[in-house]
Amino acid sequence: MANQDDKFKKVISHAKEYGYVFQSSEIYDGLSAVYDYAQNGVELKKNIRDYWWKAMVQMHENIVGLDAAIFMHPTTWKASGHVDAFNDPLIDNKDSKKRYRADVLVEDYCAKIENKINKEVTKAAKRFGDAFNKDEFVSTNGRVLGYQEKINTILSRMAKSLEDEDLADVKALIEELEIADPLTGSKNWTDVKQFNLMFGTKLGASAESAMDLYLRPETAQGIFVNFLNVQKTGRMKIPFGIAQTGKAFRNEIVARQFIFRMREFEQMEMQFFVKPGTQKKWYKKWKETRLKWHLSLGLGAVNYRFHDHEKLAHYADAAADIEFKFPFGFKELEGIHSRTDFDLKAHEEFSGKKLQYFDHEENKSYVPYVVETSIGLDRMFLAVFSNALEYETLEDGSIRTVLKLPAVLAPTKAAVLPLIKRDGLPEIAKQIVEDLKWDFNVAYDEKDAVGRRYRRQDANGTPFCITVDHDTLKDNTVTVRHRDTMEQKRVKIEELRDIIKQEVDVKSWLMKM
Ligand code: GAP
Repeated sequence: MANQDDKFKKVISHAKEYGYVFQSSEIYDGLSAVYDYAQNGVELKKNIRDYWWKAMVQMHENIVGLDAAIFMHPTTWKASGHVDAFNDPLIDNKDSKKRYRADVLVEDYCAKIENKINKEVTKAAKRFGDAFNKDEFVSTNGRVLGYQEKINTILSRMAKSLEDEDLADVKALIEELEIADPLTGSKNWTDVKQFNLMFGTKLGASAESAMDLYLRPETAQGIFVNFLNVQKTGRMKIPFGIAQTGKAFRNEIVARQFIFRMREFEQMEMQFFVKPGTQKKWYKKWKETRLKWHLSLGLGAVNYRFHDHEKLAHYADAAADIEFKFPFGFKELEGIHSRTDFDLKAHEEFSGKKLQYFDHEENKSYVPYVVETSIGLDRMFLAVFSNALEYETLEDGSIRTVLKLPAVLAPTKAAVLPLIKRDGLPEIAKQIVEDLKWDFNVAYDEKDAVGRRYRRQDANGTPFCITVDHDTLKDNTVTVRHRDTMEQKRVKIEELRDIIKQEVDVKSWLMKM
């Protein structure tokens, strides 16, 4: 745990030190769970968004994009169920005055029991050595089974209480389990209350005529309300998808873990409209396709897993998360949901307008079913960034900090470095920058010894350093140093574009899907 915390702290401070992510309004002591993307962060974020857009929109003939407004008619959120049901159960500690999500307190309690299971497994693995069979052990060992049963009983009771809106029982559960405030140890709790996560605002000049609006808590509803407009004007045939990226806002009660859970964040969502009855097939297909997209970036297959939801939201007939191994453990990165016809039907009902598709093959109209893929751009940023940060011990014993970002996503693709600041070397280096910047984001760096500049670019995630030296004057060659291997190669200046392209080109990365 200490190690995990340590790694996570390093990720956060590296993100600040190298101009990736800053706390919002830092000079005023910051705004909780709101962050700004700095000069490098904004490039990395854009590259992730573009990588998603290319794969999801431009590579699919039957998926088109949309950029709906953040403000929507307030009835949208009545229809979608967010006004009535987009709540988290919160509980306050009367002594510490700290506010918690009641369900998270219970889940954290269960996670501690899960840790005990993991300890039993580690002990047994040591004892039995090569003969150890983990699946057999966890399904037969009495102690492990006891722990697992306890977790199941607690979680199913909580799920039932939440579903029945029996918040008194959620409090009773917290008290029975003797769950204490994680910060102070106090068990002096208030009742559990529901708290709506949407941010409200007002539209209009005068207080009397102003209309209550919400900042959208998901981008998906902008797609649903535009479904028929896009289908008709784009002459789209089912199955087809509408994708969009954009800001979403949630007044999260427990907003911690840096950019993992924010109050203002960005989503990349795609709603895929299908014929009723075919949704299971498409759900399976999108689960596979999305995992392949993740794997194409090379962050390591062991760092992903699916979590299939057993308890489904009222509108879904299947749902799964793609979880990623963040520095604080496996957590949700993306959701894939088979949302039935719930949203379109609800908008039909509340707007009084038909949102149906006429199927020429079937010669009838119907409300399509929807399979949704929804990923948080900021979470993807954190996944990529935290996975990339490494500290390598070199042969001379020194530590190299290197940000091994997938080259296709790296903010700066190459840095051009004149060995010294005279003899015409800076002029050649600047000319190389001028030539390459048409194709790639490149930097010029002449400050400090070249070794220090290499280290700076390593920590910045720049895949290539190009050094101009006195031999360049004679034969038009430069040294190309590779970030990950630190290997250096002498190449002709005119070869640079192809060398960089080979490693950063979106096509070659997406072809791995
Ligand atoms: N339209 C479906 C939807 O919004 P969700 O599971 O609530 O589903 C989808 O959110 C994704 O959005 C999550 O998997 C996560 O990556 C991201 N996300 C949700 N809440 C977030 C928050 N507070 N901060 C950052 N990302 C968040």
